[in-house]
Amino acid sequence: MCPRVAKWGRGLERQIGIGVIGMGWMGRVHTSSYRRVLEHFPDLGVRPRLLMAADSSQQRRRHAERIGYEATTGDWRAVVENPEIEVVNVTLPNAMHREVALAALEAGKHVWVEKPVGRGVEDVAAVAEAARRAGAVTGVGFCYRFAPAVQHARALIEAGEVGEVNHYRGVFLADYANRPEAAASWRFSREAAGSGALGDPMAHVVDMTHHLVGPIDRLSGRTATMIARRPRLPVGEGTHFSRVETGDLVDVENEDWAGALFEFGGGTVGSLEASRVIVGPRAQMRFEVHGTRGALTWELERMNELKRFQLTEDCLDEGYTTVLAGPEHPDFAAFQPGAGVPMGYDDLRVLEARNFLTSVRDGEQREPGVEEMLACARVLEAIERSAASGAWEAAR
Ligand SMILES: NC(=O)c1ccc[n+]([C@@H]2O[C@H](COP(=O)([O-])OP(=O)(O)OC[C@H]3O[C@@H](n4cnc5c(N)ncnc54)[C@H](O)[C@@H]3O)[C@@H](O)[C@H]2O)c1
Repeated sequence: MCPRVAKWGRGLERQIGIGVIGMGWMGRVHTSSYRRVLEHFPDLGVRPRLLMAADSSQQRRRHAERIGYEATTGDWRAVVENPEIEVVNVTLPNAMHREVALAALEAGKHVWVEKPVGRGVEDVAAVAEAARRAGAVTGVGFCYRFAPAVQHARALIEAGEVGEVNHYRGVFLADYANRPEAAASWRFSREAAGSGALGDPMAHVVDMTHHLVGPIDRLSGRTATMIARRPRLPVGEGTHFSRVETGDLVDVENEDWAGALFEFGGGTVGSLEASRVIVGPRAQMRFEVHGTRGALTWELERMNELKRFQLTEDCLDEGYTTVLAGPEHPDFAAFQPGAGVPMGYDDLRVLEARNFLTSVRDGEQREPGVEEMLACARVLEAIERSAASGAWEAAR
């Protein structure tokens, strides 16, 4: 390949060298989003180049080679030190987010890091401060913002179509650990993960709340652990959906469930709830926005649908209408030509890659980045504090 093509890519776009650290579920999803992004957005103007993948698991490094990385390594520092790499993706267990993101930022890289960016406010604040100092752009994996039906809902709220928002309910009821034989992956360890349901599904609930109706001011929270011991699963094996038949049980060190009543916008009320052990819902991330003239409901299990209610003068036809996402809604046409042909989770990650690479291309921070994660982490910590104190706590 001639050097001009190597540097600028076939369409003469600037190439962006990518290094991904952690090739588990998220590492593979981020990789696929880079591979697909130009298929859906050919005018992006930059071309991601998969230079290096790091994982401590040899099996996962072999997988990275097979899917086209130019090099793999067991030592994540080799990614951070590679001068050809401009962007580092941190898709590791939470405990490593801070150290790796700081090293990447200090080495002059832009960083796309998974939520929850470490184990609490202190970690996120350190990464946010390092990004500011370095003048780098960041992305954080709040992918559900990008669903066309969610983008449409946000535009309707902003346009005042539901009237004045006077109530909000956000939940993420996940069932990945609802059986006692569901494995104790790193997510169940304080050392490796920090919090449990809070840093995992609740982070998405809080970010969506902030995205749609603005910052949470104060709250009263509770947490609970329903299954106290589980079979061990070594890091780098299986997923957090794995089930293991073994007598080697370990303690669950963080919460399975969290909930909160909250106030926003100077006294408007709402509630938040997240679980990883629910029986019934599968991955029911859901919001309900209620206003003085209308209401909106969306849920991940029906990602391409938005339920909309409008008050009418004669009251005759009041009821929820189901709007199916289609090419008229934001970003849908980049994936499917007609309504009713569904988009999926991985497509949201392609939209997220487009958003992040646009930040890198323009040198201008777009949301969601670590600043949005910092606002989210303050809420998550306030829920933990409130669960311990029994009192209402400030969340910003
Ligand atoms: N945005 C989302 O929708 C979403 C979904 C799932 C997970 N996440 C987040 O993504 C992150 C990763 O989650 P996951 O489900 O992909 O986890 P995972 O366990 O599937 O993958 C983590 C990978 O990191 C590797 N690893 C661990 N220590 C390492 C080290 N020292 N050096 C190199 N590699 C190492 C492991 O071998 C494993 O392959 C978490 O922070 C999680 O909160 C976000």
